Amino acid sequence: MEPSAPQPPPAAAAIQIDSHLDDAEERSLAEDVLDGLTRPFKELPPKHFYDARGAELFDQICELPEYYPTRAERAILERTATELAALTNAVELVELGSGTAAKTRVLLDALHGAGTLKRYVPVDVTESMVRDCAETLTEEYPGLRVHGVIGDFERHLDHVPPAIGPRIVAFLGGTIGNFTPGSRRRFLRKIARLLSPDDFLLMGTDLVKDPRVLEAAYDDSQGVTAEFNRNVLRVLNRELQADFDPEDFDHVALFNEEHEWIEMRLRAKRELIATVRGLDLCVHFRAGEELRTEISAKFTPERVDGDLSAAGLELVHWLTDPDGLFALTLSRRTSR
Ligand SMILES: C[S@@+](CC[C@H](N)C(=O)[O-])C[C@H]1O[C@@H](n2cnc3c(N)ncnc32)[C@H](O)[C@@H]1O
Repeated sequence: MEPSAPQPPPAAAAIQIDSHLDDAEERSLAEDVLDGLTRPFKELPPKHFYDARGAELFDQICELPEYYPTRAERAILERTATELAALTNAVELVELGSGTAAKTRVLLDALHGAGTLKRYVPVDVTESMVRDCAETLTEEYPGLRVHGVIGDFERHLDHVPPAIGPRIVAFLGGTIGNFTPGSRRRFLRKIARLLSPDDFLLMGTDLVKDPRVLEAAYDDSQGVTAEFNRNVLRVLNRELQADFDPEDFDHVALFNEEHEWIEMRLRAKRELIATVRGLDLCVHFRAGEELRTEISAKFTPERVDGDLSAAGLELVHWLTDPDGLFALTLSRRTSR
């Protein structure tokens, strides 16, 4: 008898991971930094926070007493997941910006309980997150296949594998708020194109509320969010051979009442010049000059509805927590 080829362990057989972060991704960081640090008002996109350390800090933020969005969104999921599973009949869950998939387990439990769950597709820029969650989830849910996509959801949505049946595309954590209004609608339109008539988008949005509550959520008393904010400078130091001293910058979080979004900024404590050797660039900061690192838009029901309609999506369910802090919306492609 021929000796049989060694078989992979069962969990490995259930996992496929595709990575789309290569030289092009390094170029994207370089281009974002060159563009963002040479503008009259300096700015960097928030996706560059999330190296392994940034992802770890974000997880700590989710546990902070001031950071209500995670608890509120989890509470909504716990209350509604069984109903969502029954309504969608989803056999797969695609999650954009999946992180550690902590809250996702509530949905996976419900789909598993309904007997429909076959595959989970996490999409995230942080490689370690996608790999770790693929391993843990295939162990936690026997029979589950995980097809991870390591990539930028703004550039790699077309690498999401073809659907194997009705699916939920989840975009949780209020991450949609990181887009400015025009790019938000453009991005939602791209998501809408991923959906077939049997599919649903499940999206988390943080709601407009007392600015004091909002600002505390982004400026906690333990300074974890400040560390998270400064982490982007550590990413630049490592990836682009820059020489920022993160301690030269104060963390700033403020609610912009006109736009109804939170802005996180890094404010130079003194006049300084930083060198970004990888870009052959010197960046001058005046004392007090700010670098915007994130916006986090807050929503009203009208804003969510306007964005969904503009993207060719129609609201099926609007779900909130008892205190009205956060909303989850289930939507689908507008039928014609
Ligand atoms: C605010 S966290 C939310 C994590 C998780 N979904 C939750 O609800 O707790 C944003 C997540 O999106 C990922 N992310 C941010 N920008 C991204 C991008 N452009 N492409 C892919 N992932 C991105 C980050 O790595 C991080 O895991």
